[in-house]
Amino acid sequence: VAPLKVGIAGLGTVGAEVVRLIETQSRVLAGRSGRGIRVVAVTARSKAKKRGIDLRGVEWAKDPIALATHPEVDCFVELMGGAGDPALSAVDAALGAGKSVVTANKALLAKHGIKLAKSAEKHGGALNFEAAVGAAIPVIKTLREGLAGTGINRVYGILNGTCNYILTRMEQEGLSFAECLKDAQRLGYAEANPSFDVDGHDTAQKLAILASLAFGTKVAQSAVYVEGISSIAPEDLRAAADLGYRVKLLGVAVRTAKGIEQRVHPTMVPKSSSIAQVMGVTNAVTIDGEGIPPITLVGPGAGGAATASAVVADIADVARGIRANPFGRPVSHLHDTKKAPMERH
Ligand code: HSE
Repeated sequence: VAPLKVGIAGLGTVGAEVVRLIETQSRVLAGRSGRGIRVVAVTARSKAKKRGIDLRGVEWAKDPIALATHPEVDCFVELMGGAGDPALSAVDAALGAGKSVVTANKALLAKHGIKLAKSAEKHGGALNFEAAVGAAIPVIKTLREGLAGTGINRVYGILNGTCNYILTRMEQEGLSFAECLKDAQRLGYAEANPSFDVDGHDTAQKLAILASLAFGTKVAQSAVYVEGISSIAPEDLRAAADLGYRVKLLGVAVRTAKGIEQRVHPTMVPKSSSIAQVMGVTNAVTIDGEGIPPITLVGPGAGGAATASAVVADIADVARGIRANPFGRPVSHLHDTKKAPMERH
């Protein structure tokens, strides 16, 4: 069988780690996929930057669109980020050309996910985005496949590693918000514009994606109420601690009589609760399914290695020929947010 030929747009921490994993894990990946996986072309802002990866024999495409429509590329991997161009037009072009796309770009999916899913459906490519939520935690797969037969009533959790890292260090070390944010940036957790993290938008984008998979609603960040953590000071955390609480930035999507409610805000959780034990860059997602006790997935929610791990798993699915509906069902079966409670499983 011919190897799957991959083109990667964006060679930051995540992109470089994906190239490295495809190389070092090639035997395992070939065993699991039934065929080899080969990076044939890449594109990035700087060609000269030192990345510590071997790109000999790999072509440099002149821009993301050229890579997305490159005749040699079967699977376009978008790791540039951003809800608009160049990511949007490149992903659109790749899907339009019938290629499969793997992306970690939650902003793009929360804004244009439905349009892109339609294009994937029409042209036959896969659109995989495990890395967009909870990095290495397989939460998309869990909702899309593992719980396909279970009605979901609620999905909630800690979805932003940067915020949880900041809240943890502020509480434990009494450091200022600004200092902790700087460290989160240095460690590669924060978004290029960290206000996406601390103002709650990153959590809202991820929640919109999870809600779509859980409830069969059309993914829409605009349907989420959002409040971030930027006005929280160490004294607030101390006051909460005195009362036996910790503050966590939670994203909550729940089925109510009026529709699906989606919200993001700092929440006081009892110190004894399991969600209060989630510290540092860790994420946790709890899924309340009908007739079964809650399922909680916990793991690294940000960082190059954790994100690359999910990207490579998605590429392996493409190599195996798996074509899941991006949001769990055909786009024509997705509901508007308010209509979802009518559906019973
Ligand atoms: N900035 C994000 C976070 C990266 O801190 O969770 C992972 O999506």
